[in-house]
Amino acid sequence: VDVVDIVKVRLLEMIVCSKCAGELSAAGEASGAEIEEGKLVCRSCGSEYPIVGGIPFFNPEALEESITARAFSDQWQLRQKGVFERQDVFGFTEAEYVTHFCYAFGVKDYCQLRDVIVEAGIGSGCLAIALARAAPETTIMGLDISSSLRSLATVARQLPNLHLIQCDLVRPPVKKGIADKVYASGVLHHLEKPVDGLASLWSLVKKGGQLYFWVYPSYQFCAYDRLRRILGAPFRWPGRIRYVLAWMLAPIMWIYFAVSRRYSYKKSLENMRTVAFRIFDNLSPEFQHRVSKEEVAGWCGRTDIRSFRIIEDLGVVCDRQ
Ligand SMILES: C[S@@+](CC[C@H](N)C(=O)[O-])C[C@H]1O[C@@H](n2cnc3c(N)ncnc32)[C@H](O)[C@@H]1O
Ligand SMILES: [Zn+2]
Repeated sequence: VDVVDIVKVRLLEMIVCSKCAGELSAAGEASGAEIEEGKLVCRSCGSEYPIVGGIPFFNPEALEESITARAFSDQWQLRQKGVFERQDVFGFTEAEYVTHFCYAFGVKDYCQLRDVIVEAGIGSGCLAIALARAAPETTIMGLDISSSLRSLATVARQLPNLHLIQCDLVRPPVKKGIADKVYASGVLHHLEKPVDGLASLWSLVKKGGQLYFWVYPSYQFCAYDRLRRILGAPFRWPGRIRYVLAWMLAPIMWIYFAVSRRYSYKKSLENMRTVAFRIFDNLSPEFQHRVSKEEVAGWCGRTDIRSFRIIEDLGVVCDRQ
């Protein structure tokens, strides 16, 4: 069998070299329906990207060098171990993730979707997997800089329409103008320069397509963020310390929420596991910007996004006309 026909055929049609946008060829050991171990090679500049467990790694060095990539790798790995939430992600069920996706894009029956969807910063993979399962005619590319994708490899193997890519969304190895929908929830505020990420995600959207992103609002009080500020630069502390602290502070935070009813993010009280997970999530990333509606409008202006509307606090739907 020709190896090129195998890294989930469709993927090679949709990705390019993240350095020069050249075409990629695959080389490696094929097993079943995809390349297990091997590499992608750029036909123009010769850059090579390893494929591990069926997942191409465009920025493997980030897993060593980037505080953000390492922080989220730890976070998702700890979650996987069951030391925080067991089922929900940030207190949301899989169904709630899907419902929010449909709400953002005005989708009525997601099972009938035939779109090319890029989800940037898929984290737990909850949304991408649910969509890929329910809507077999969609093609979903799930991007993330962390190693969280590794734990999703087995599931992805069973879903021919789900493609996982380890990469930096600021330089995504995805062909421009390919996506009907690009979704990035809780991701752009973790970039040093969010507007750079916005520009690269926007470039993936095809004519008539849409981009949705959600970022932390600066105009609402958030107890988790306040804690982060009080602690200074907790992202520099060892993961173990952040983990122990998250669980030590969770009961205090929970009581604060129960008494004050200023819940942060949600409209009702979250359980202790979610609170601990959220504390860890807020202490770990290097960058965590909070943004006003005016700033979001400014980002859109600089990115040449002419048509956008703000939904809730603080989601933004952008239309490419
Ligand atoms: C707070 S999590 C949100 C996960 C998911 N979207 C959700 O709502 O549950 C942010 C995710 O964005 C990823 N991320 C952060 N910076 C990134 C970058 N430059 N490129 C790709 N992914 C990135 C992190 O690794 C992490 O998994
Ligand atoms: Zn190249």
